[in-house]
Parts: sequence; structure tokens; C-alpha cells
Amino acid sequence: MSNNEKRLAGEAAIRYVEKDAIIGVGTGSTVAFFIDALADLRDQIQGAVSSSEQSTAHLKKLGIPVLDLNATGALTLYVDGADECDPLRRLIKGGGAALTREKIVAEASAQFVCIIDSSKRVDILGKFPLPIEVIPMARSLIGREIARRGGQPVWRDGVVTDNGNWIIDVHGWQIADPVALERDLNQLPGIVSVGLFARRPADIVLVGDQVMA
Ligand code: A5P
Repeated sequence: MSNNEKRLAGEAAIRYVEKDAIIGVGTGSTVAFFIDALADLRDQIQGAVSSSEQSTAHLKKLGIPVLDLNATGALTLYVDGADECDPLRRLIKGGGAALTREKIVAEASAQFVCIIDSSKRVDILGKFPLPIEVIPMARSLIGREIARRGGQPVWRDGVVTDNGNWIIDVHGWQIADPVALERDLNQLPGIVSVGLFARRPADIVLVGDQVMA
């Protein structure tokens, strides 16, 4: 992991910010660099839609207005980090437990620019345990469903998401077909969202300040 690459990626994403836009903002240490850089443009944008309480606090501290997605309508740009990224720009996200709101803002945005350091690049997703947000009463049910599919579910004990739910991290999956797995898991009652961004992958990935080919 390289903090310098994270900073370069966060700063490089600024080139996608257009005047008067409302920017979708993700969560995490890489995005923190983006927010710091965005503060210099605070008078040239309308504001941001945030994907977490953590990012909301950071944005507000730097004087960037935080807007409600229900009031803004569709966004032109979403900037967020990732825990893993494959060559087709499909991602694992949710290491910071913010996956559900991240997925909502990504879906609402025309362009998703993902900012990572080179340690996040993989050929096949799954070495990083896949985060799944679950309704608390469904934790055991979902754990059994994951085990039936060959995964090892580990409850992220003590973590409550911004939505009041729990996180299960799934170890041991080599995710050859992330679109199919995302679709399959999304059918299970009790799963709020899956940290696979495969059906809606990133459009552009910046590794440090370089666009990933
Ligand atoms: C938050 O839930 C995650 O999806 C983050 O985007 C991801 O964990 C990347 O975080 P870092 O930028 O801190 O590595």
C-alpha cells in the first residue's frame, strides 16, 4: 500500500470535476486526499453528495456543501476508492463498511472514477474478503448461504453501518464471475448490498496519477 499513490490518485481525479457540478464522493483514505483537493474548488462546484458519515464530516469541515441525493437528481461524476480492482474495472468495496451508500451514489452517477494505489490491482477478485451488509436478524441465515457457496463468513463484530446494519466479510472466494455472484447474492432476503461493483463497474480507474489501461 502506498500513501503517495493514494494522494496522487486523489489529486488526479480533480481533472474530472466540472464547473458547477455536484460531485458524488466515496469513502476511505484515498478519497480523503480527493476531498482535500476538492476543497480548493469549493467555490466552483455546487457541492457534493456523500456516501458516508465519515466523508460528510470531512466535506463539511472543509466548507464543501453536502447535498441530499433525493434533491439533486442524477450526478455526472462519482469518485471513490476500492479494495480490489480487476482488469475489467470490476471492484470489491466495503472495507470501510460504506458499501451500500457507495453503491447508491455510484448507480446515480454517469461516470465513476475509481482511485486506487497499485496494491489494489488483481487478476481475479476475492483475495480481499468480500464485505456484505446484512439486516442484523439475517446474519446467521446469510452465513449459512455463504457457506453453502463455499465461502467462509466472518461477522465484523462490533461494526454497525451508517444504515444500522451489520457486515459479514467472506473469505476464501476466488470470484471468477463477479457479475453472476453479485446477481445471485442480491436475491437473498436479508442482504442489503454486496461489496461487488461488477454489474456497474468503474468507468475509469486511476492508479496513482495514471489511467489504468
Ligand atoms: C469503503 O467502504 C470502501 O469501499 C473504500 O472505498 C475502500 O475500502 C478503499 O479504502 P482506502 O482508500 O482507504 O484504501
